Amino acid sequence: MRHCAWAEPLQNGLMTLPPIIRPAVADDEEALGRLGALLVVEHYDFDPERFLAPRPDTPQAYGRFLTSKIDQQEKLVLVAQRNGAVVGYVFGGMEGFDYMALRGPAAVLYDLVVDAAHRRQGVGAALLDAAFGEFTKRGAPRVLLFTAYKNDGAQSLFERVGFRRTMIEMTRELG
Ligand SMILES: CC(C)(COP(=O)(O)OP(=O)(O)OC[C@H]1O[C@@H](n2cnc3c(N)ncnc32)[C@H](O)[C@@H]1OP(=O)(O)O)[C@@H](O)C(=O)NCCC(=O)NCCS
Repeated sequence: MRHCAWAEPLQNGLMTLPPIIRPAVADDEEALGRLGALLVVEHYDFDPERFLAPRPDTPQAYGRFLTSKIDQQEKLVLVAQRNGAVVGYVFGGMEGFDYMALRGPAAVLYDLVVDAAHRRQGVGAALLDAAFGEFTKRGAPRVLLFTAYKNDGAQSLFERVGFRRTMIEMTRELG
């Protein structure tokens, strides 16, 4: 059979196709739970005293938590899909004045996760871009997030898409 010069790059290229970004639906619960549990595990590894420990039921609990936010008007849950599979999500919300944080109304990002096999291919940046577009449409003047102090990779992404450093959280064990 004649060798198809384009077939191999096309197949390899499937991994790097730009993802489809769409609002999450109830059927995404399992995928959202799996990705949310990844976030729990990676943060627990940063600091086991500060961050929640993963449990056997973390994927189910996280999936239920995220799908419960889908229909809340002030929340936003978007997923990134490739070849029909959910490979990442972003979760955020519109918040009002917060005097404890000394800030006015803003969009806040709570979670951003990309499946390990799909990282460094623009999926995280595409999710953020879609979230910025949606929050802008909803009238948010700015977007904030908290990121683990040791999460250098995520901080590189956030700075690359325009975030500046504004606060640090500090933790002290008691007793
Ligand atoms: C952080 C995370 C969402 C990044 O997703 P991603 O799809 O890999 O990010 P992108 O491919 O869009 O990255 C775009 C750019 O951001 C920077 N970047 C992203 N991840 C990086 C890393 N681990 N180290 C250094 N720079 C990084 C790079 O400049 C990258 O461009 P390049 O690949 O051309 O160098 C992903 O690593 C992840 O899910 N981590 C675990 C969960 C987590 O920490 N979430 C954030 C805290 S809420």
